[in-house]
Amino acid sequence: MAAQPDACKALDPHVLRHDFPIFQRTVHGKPLIYLDNAATTQRPQAVINAIIEYYQRYNANVHRAVHTLSHEASVAYEGAHKKAAKFVNARSWREIIFTRNATEAINLVAYAWGLHNLQPGDEVLVTIMEHHSNLVPWQMLRELKKIELKFLDVTDQGRLKLDDLPKLITRRTKLVGMIYASNVLGTINPVREIIAEAQRVGAITVVDAAQAAPHIPIDVQALGCDFLAVSGHKMLGPTGVGFLYGRRELLEAMHPFLHGGDMISTVTTESVTFNELPWKFEAGTPNIAGGIGLGAAIDYLLALGVENVYAHEQKLLAYALEKLSQIDDLEIYGPKDTHDRLAVISFNLKGVHPHDVAGILDEAGIAVRSGHHCAQPLMRRLGMENTARASFYIYNSEDDVDALVDALKTVRKLFA
Ligand SMILES: Cc1ncc(COP(=O)(O)O)c(C=O)c1O
Repeated sequence: MAAQPDACKALDPHVLRHDFPIFQRTVHGKPLIYLDNAATTQRPQAVINAIIEYYQRYNANVHRAVHTLSHEASVAYEGAHKKAAKFVNARSWREIIFTRNATEAINLVAYAWGLHNLQPGDEVLVTIMEHHSNLVPWQMLRELKKIELKFLDVTDQGRLKLDDLPKLITRRTKLVGMIYASNVLGTINPVREIIAEAQRVGAITVVDAAQAAPHIPIDVQALGCDFLAVSGHKMLGPTGVGFLYGRRELLEAMHPFLHGGDMISTVTTESVTFNELPWKFEAGTPNIAGGIGLGAAIDYLLALGVENVYAHEQKLLAYALEKLSQIDDLEIYGPKDTHDRLAVISFNLKGVHPHDVAGILDEAGIAVRSGHHCAQPLMRRLGMENTARASFYIYNSEDDVDALVDALKTVRKLFA
């Protein structure tokens, strides 16, 4: 992805950090170096302000009243759907359903589409790289609907074995689920090619874009996917809100997911008709403040340019891979090059448990994650149980990489 030099200059992490109040604090007396962005990102003041403004100035329920506050809240909440539609280039904002997170978005597909459309003997194909949120829902359907669940393998370097696809996708394949970018290895998968293969047999496609959406431009029309799941909190938005993009014809034909208020059009004691999209799938009072906050996060990212975010992270990734490779006994997992790879770096220091690594880094004010990263089948496949993981975002700079490398050298000495 080519960077726009001028716009790139604008993405200066030292400047952007001032938009994020959390960087005013210290951790163990040290400036905070936040490298746990694959778990959740920090929020800029603009997002915090949007949430405060809703509660302070126009707090009301949406869709149900004619009074001014409700009207303003409804316009803002609907506006956030429009921003999300623009963010992923959906044809219509009605194809955007707000959920609690990516996990709920994928479950929506499993319950509202899978439960009603899959038959015993049908096949669902996912990759071995999936986060549990795009795996366990299909395991649930394997139990309930007696479908077969198949897996596309990875190479030892952490790339999908695309050559296996033709034999894995059969006439019985009804759904293909795929992680767009790995939260463990950073690999960005060729989802467009996988979707094209799935379409050959008329299978439905579900893309887990929880890691991809914060870092690379998403275009659901170019991808041709049927569903795509996003988490707001991984892209500067608040927790408790994400969204599902769904192709309109499919959403129109599908049963609702949750049932109750807001998702209906008329109800009698005998019958019910459902609301128009997307409200048919947003039962009950939604996370209004969260949705509005997510809208503000999207404004922020679009103003930066997601392609510039990626360009910035590519530079950081190259720098980090080079610097980390100089540390003795440090094993890095995933692709060794920066091509189609996010700045998500899982690693292990020989002989040191990743929780110990993360604990010592915390003493230095550096936040990294350690564990199985909710991708146990992938970890098992690659012969590892736990790793430490440093994941970077717009406010991280080469200084943060240097601090990480210095701290890891200290860990190495402590455990020598
Ligand atoms: C690739 C991927 N998919 C899905 C999820 C689930 O996101 P959430 O917990 O916000 O539903 C995550 C979270 O780490 C992830 O990394």
